[in-house]
Amino acid sequence: MLRDKVKIGVMVSGGGTNLQALIDAQKSGIIESGEIVLVLSNKADAYALERGKAAGIATEVVLKSECKDSEEFEARLIDALEKAQVELIVLAGFMSILSKNFTDKYKNRILNVHPSLIPSFCGEGFYGLRVHRAALEKGVKVSGATVHFVNEIPDGGEIIMQKAVEVEEGDTPETLSKRILENAEWKILPASTELVAKRILESK
Ligand code: GAR
Repeated sequence: MLRDKVKIGVMVSGGGTNLQALIDAQKSGIIESGEIVLVLSNKADAYALERGKAAGIATEVVLKSECKDSEEFEARLIDALEKAQVELIVLAGFMSILSKNFTDKYKNRILNVHPSLIPSFCGEGFYGLRVHRAALEKGVKVSGATVHFVNEIPDGGEIIMQKAVEVEEGDTPETLSKRILENAEWKILPASTELVAKRILESK
């Protein structure tokens, strides 16, 4: 029986290079069990929105500043996800922490990519270049990326995939970030997305 592909919603806040990796993986067939149906941003000027549009994917923006509180913000996010019938959410550089109410609603249906080897340099306050700055300050020789399920604890959900990347002499947060994106994040995020989408598809 031919089953419909799992509908994927990608939530973003920034440049969207991980979103691009997902779009490319869909084109090349690395992701075959799901299809991206929505790019949802909490920033109006996120370049990720342009990447989504260029790939012919529907885009939506929900601004926290236009909501009276975080409940309304999350209700609006859920509304956009439900309208697009999203079954699997991928946080690809989404820089806002989701409440237990949200994560319970999508239990084992939200993935996040984090730019370190969890449990190092993760949790509240560790995002983007701050993660790499902390890793360099500590003097670690190896860092990397983690894809995990999202629950109510920031970066605390079950780990799906990790990939290590060497820290090099003279690294800055920017050079380390670039090496981790290229060698780890852009590989394990599409691979994990396919893994989970395939599981969902098979359980349908
Ligand atoms: C990525 O490095 C991602 O791991 C990180 O933000 C960057 C987004 O880049 N996410 C976090 O730090 C979440 N805690 P992108 O917009 O180019 O994909």
